[in-house]
Amino acid sequence: MFDINNIIRENIKNLKPYSSARDEFKGEASVYLDANENAFGSPLERNYHRYPDPMAFAVKNELSKIKGVPARNIFLGNGSDEAIDILFRSFCNPGKDNVIIVPPTYGMYEVSANINDVALKRVNLTEDYQLNLEGIAEAIDDHTKMIFICSPNNPTGNSIYREDIETILANFSGLVVIDEAYINFSRQKSFIQELTEYSNLVVLQTLSKAWGLAGLRIGMAFASEEIIEVFNKVKPPYNLNEASQELALEALKNVQQVNGWIKEILTERDKLVLSLKNFDFVLDIYPSDANFILVKTTDANGIYNFLVAKGIITRNRNKVELCEGCIRITVGTPEENEVLIVALKDFGIGG
Ligand SMILES: Cc1ncc(COP(=O)(O)O)c(C=O)c1O
Repeated sequence: MFDINNIIRENIKNLKPYSSARDEFKGEASVYLDANENAFGSPLERNYHRYPDPMAFAVKNELSKIKGVPARNIFLGNGSDEAIDILFRSFCNPGKDNVIIVPPTYGMYEVSANINDVALKRVNLTEDYQLNLEGIAEAIDDHTKMIFICSPNNPTGNSIYREDIETILANFSGLVVIDEAYINFSRQKSFIQELTEYSNLVVLQTLSKAWGLAGLRIGMAFASEEIIEVFNKVKPPYNLNEASQELALEALKNVQQVNGWIKEILTERDKLVLSLKNFDFVLDIYPSDANFILVKTTDANGIYNFLVAKGIITRNRNKVELCEGCIRITVGTPEENEVLIVALKDFGIGG
């Protein structure tokens, strides 16, 4: 049913990718005079005067061991935002194709669609933040190239029912992009083990959340080899810089530490929920499978501004459809969460 030739843009199918110096010579040599680098070095303690590995193989090999997915099924980007943008540029014809998003959800799908002049079809989540399968089926037309599903979803925090995602994967002949940025915090299983089952599946993950490396900008896409080949053709030649690659390799040795943090964050999330429930301006706290919670309040703008004045920044989601009155709160350290709760005790009493 899914055939990459039916959805890839013609210009991308025919694209002859840029061939970098490091693509053209891959072995070891003693003198490199092929890439117009500064052979004298870098004005730093460490040398960064050579271009990095364009394919970041060392990082992919480590990730492959951790994730249980072959390196050839992994794309690495400058954040998963780069992967999202490449998907649009590779598979959607500007002014002609469309994609489906299921709001409220992560904002970059819409921004990338707008940048690439690709029409958006919005099929809102249901009241309990699950997929409206009938609505999605009705929205699909001959020009629908991708459906974006974020699970656990940002900003609602819940996971999307697996069976519903499987229904879409089995029936849609375009790409199903499952954004699992928060999967490490979830009780649900990742879809990355399903790549052989579904040739139209793209799973996005990131080192920015549980791995604590948002500043390095490393996002991952997991997909069939033929889809990964498209990513590699379209990406800028050296999209993952040398410092990020080196530091990621160091960080990936510390799986235990990251797993410890995840446990702590989940404990802190539960404590935060219990504390917030005591406030009468809190109307609801939605179940979360992520490192943040969505809190429905009587006065989101008031609470947000009150906290800003105290130097505590949360995310006001009041203007987001289906999130009216809501504030999204990232789970912090025990100390930070305590500061938040203590501050909120003064809300509404003139503090
Ligand atoms: C659902 C979701 N996907 C992707 C991203 C972006 O991740 P990255 O830092 O890898 O670009 C975010 C960041 O907040 C996110 O919430």
